[in-house]
Amino acid sequence: MRLFLDTANIERIRQGVRWGVVSGVTTNPTLVAQEGRKDYQLVVKEICSIVDGPVSAEVVVEGVDDMISQARSIAAWHPNVVVKIPATPDGLEVTSRLSREGIRVNMTLCFSANQALLAALAGAAFVSPFVGRLDDIGQDGMALVKSIMDTYKEYDFDTEVIAASIRHPMHCVAAAQAGADIATIPFNVLEQMIKHPMTDAGNARFLADWHRVDGQNK
Ligand code: G3P
Repeated sequence: MRLFLDTANIERIRQGVRWGVVSGVTTNPTLVAQEGRKDYQLVVKEICSIVDGPVSAEVVVEGVDDMISQARSIAAWHPNVVVKIPATPDGLEVTSRLSREGIRVNMTLCFSANQALLAALAGAAFVSPFVGRLDDIGQDGMALVKSIMDTYKEYDFDTEVIAASIRHPMHCVAAAQAGADIATIPFNVLEQMIKHPMTDAGNARFLADWHRVDGQNK
């Protein structure tokens, strides 16, 4: 399973890339708004200059023609840009048409295996089941990821599954065990994945003991 960062925060993306474990980024209008940035195009181009992998940017208009036209402009920002399109009836038509033009689509706001099946049939490059938001309403979000993986496994679909709306490190383990191609995660979850109190305590002890040995050799 690969890891994408689900953020529009440039410093956090730089950090994840320095750690060598981040191979893509997903953004959405909420995440860009959180950073207080208004120029979406500049933000996405900056992200593309940092991470060498897919960078998802969301279409924020309605109606098939307007969505297609905005998606084409967004896709032209950088070769790594993937256009996020919602899993709606209009979104399905938009995804089919863009995919035929060679524009990569990440079908987002996916909450059912049927939506994921349609995303694959429409030629989406990625589909994003929202795990945490299903958990929020008392459904098993990761069961959806498993169900999509089971469905896709039966066929020759190229669509990659991004476990999205990830809220905590156990979601990452579960997404990997479900066979998700990618998990897109907030930076704090990435930090939590590497942190363990026993690692910190063990490391502090090794260093302290070594200073004692080192001191005796001086
Ligand atoms: O990738 C989708 C993600 O940004 C949604 O996360 O936490 O708002 O449900 P969340």
